[in-house]
Amino acid sequence: MVTVRAPATSANLGSGFDVFGVALDRPSDVVTVQRAEQTTIEVTGAGSQFIPEDPADNTVGAVAEALDAPAHIEIDKGVRPASGLGSSAASAAAAAVALNRLYDRGYTRTELVPVAAEGEAVVSGDAHDDNVAPAILGGFTIATDSGVTRVGANIPLVTCLPDIVVSTRDARAVVPDGARIEQLVETVGNAATLTTGMHRSDPDLVGRGMTDSVVTPARAELITGYERVREAALEAGATGVTISGAGPSVIAACHEHDQRSIAATMVDAFADVDVDARVYQTGIGSGAKVLD
Ligand code: HSE
Repeated sequence: MVTVRAPATSANLGSGFDVFGVALDRPSDVVTVQRAEQTTIEVTGAGSQFIPEDPADNTVGAVAEALDAPAHIEIDKGVRPASGLGSSAASAAAAAVALNRLYDRGYTRTELVPVAAEGEAVVSGDAHDDNVAPAILGGFTIATDSGVTRVGANIPLVTCLPDIVVSTRDARAVVPDGARIEQLVETVGNAATLTTGMHRSDPDLVGRGMTDSVVTPARAELITGYERVREAALEAGATGVTISGAGPSVIAACHEHDQRSIAATMVDAFADVDVDARVYQTGIGSGAKVLD
């Protein structure tokens, strides 16, 4: 039996649509695997009632198949599905690391990233590495078609999860088909600023680089109160605010001394528009960890 904890993650960070991701130090999923003749799945925890246990429809079923590693798989969800916090990626990453260990497959962590992404494809309809890469490797990751680059960084973050459901499929449907050259220039500048900020663990540079005028404005329409929450967080000292992944969570970068008041402000701003929200004062964390 092998048990692995894998973290929630936040993809995109504004300027890095489908490329950037960070591991969060909370919440997380815990996955336990045991050898079996065929794969069976049991899900408990946050939002488990919405997660199919049929291996053909579950993110970890695809991972077990990709690794040719049938198992009884127990998933204890800490990351609510459809939250924008990499819920399916956390389960897929934990399962990939656990099954690789259980069956002694010998893949490196980096090699497990595309395996876990196959699991992601089951729920999002598309294989993205931007959540699974940080869920497996930890830190800040840059996932492109030519590979994954990891940067260790330490930035205080606040993620605020409103009681709204936005599916990744719906959020992808509103992504514009193209961008103007000015937007491309701005995005390159912001992405480079953010990456430099991660290298320096500088919350001001990271926050500045989170600005995005292409995908985020379209998706903001799906999140009741987004602009209000963003402005309130910036007023409370956030260095940057954007949608976490496909939403509806909102993520803020900040200095540690502002973290608590930003967290309270974001919850209050959602309450102003009659939306309940829970908040995590978090930071950039490590990747999937084998517990026993
Ligand atoms: N980069 C993806 C998106 C993350 O924003 O749609 C969710 O898989």
